[in-house]
Amino acid sequence: MNQRLVIALPKGGMYDEAAERLREAGIAVPTRVGRRLTVFADDGQTELLLLRPTDVPAYVEFGAADCGIVGKDTLWETDRSVSELADLHFGACRLVVAARRQDRYHEGERYPTFLRVATKFKRSAQNYFSDRDLPCEIIALHGSVELAPLVGLADVIVDLVATGNTLREHDMVIVDEIATSSARLVVNPVRFRAKYDALLSLVRRLEGSHQKA
Ligand code: PRP
Repeated sequence: MNQRLVIALPKGGMYDEAAERLREAGIAVPTRVGRRLTVFADDGQTELLLLRPTDVPAYVEFGAADCGIVGKDTLWETDRSVSELADLHFGACRLVVAARRQDRYHEGERYPTFLRVATKFKRSAQNYFSDRDLPCEIIALHGSVELAPLVGLADVIVDLVATGNTLREHDMVIVDEIATSSARLVVNPVRFRAKYDALLSLVRRLEGSHQKA
């Protein structure tokens, strides 16, 4: 098996664990990549594209990468068409509705008639509230979402929770859990057929390294 693979990797919080999992799967990925955009693993066969997590599906759909590692939370929100090959069982987090403790929504207190919802997860939030016939305005933000209810921008947030520290630090509580997320290996279906041996071998090694861990 000597097919060259291009793998799209998320920079930021998920990079270290994704790189570690690739190393366990036999691909010697550098620990430090700084501001580089691409890097080759030591095998000289595997090229890594270092991307913002939300950009991984686009690179995979259009075939600029053969496969990629990305959180399920990103896949919920994207229009890009990629196939999920494996749950890599890291980067676990939950998508939740959260509010200020003092608003008592977690105790069954009624929501305002027209909820304002701040979130980076516009589509997931819209689906959640429309499934419950709760009229709302989704306020799309790009980060620091917990601030929104504290300064009166929104009634609740829809956001990811991993350790729960950010919510605790801002005296916020979970009102409801929407879904759970973890890292996934995604492929371009055409590339999967074209590079079947290399990609199947990669999936098996990634799944094997998880089972050993
Ligand atoms: C994510 C998420 C929460 C936080 C949750 O933000 O949006 O703010 O992590 O993690 P915790 O439960 O372990 O505290 P991220 O770090 O991506 O930064 P952001 O606020 O800029 O989006």
